[in-house]
Amino acid sequence: MIIRLDVIGGWLLVGLLGVSPTLTLAAGDPAAAVAVVGRCVACHGADGIGKAPQYPNLRGQKASYLEKSLKAFRSGERKDPAMGPMAKPLSDAEIANLAAYFEAVD
Ligand code: HEC
Repeated sequence: MIIRLDVIGGWLLVGLLGVSPTLTLAAGDPAAAVAVVGRCVACHGADGIGKAPQYPNLRGQKASYLEKSLKAFRSGERKDPAMGPMAKPLSDAEIANLAAYFEAVD
């Protein structure tokens, strides 16, 4: 019963925000990420594999999760001295493109 309520609550939230998960995923264009991905590769690698132990791998991660993480860093809800300043100037479109890029990169 509790699980059922959580699911309904989640969809209600999605409805209130006016976005569906499908639309969010479809919004990202991996090819368009080339404009900004150069800022990320020193730490996360062009192939999405972190260059040092403190830099997480992004390769193959779900775009929806990457997008959520980037928005959390941008808003300050998630804090990291290295990653916070990287996310601050990103637009919603750039975030969607970067998320699609790292989900798809191989
Ligand atoms: C100076 C190094 C550095 C650069 C450049 C950098 N990041 Fe990060 N990134 C980090 C670190 C460190 C973390 C882990 C932060 C933490 O522990 O919360 C991180 C975390 C992330 C996460 C969350 C991963 C997860 O599993 O939760 C995403 C997504 C991300 N970075 C995307 C990007 C993107 C996209 C760019 C380019 C715009 C970028 N990063 C540039 C250092 C960097």
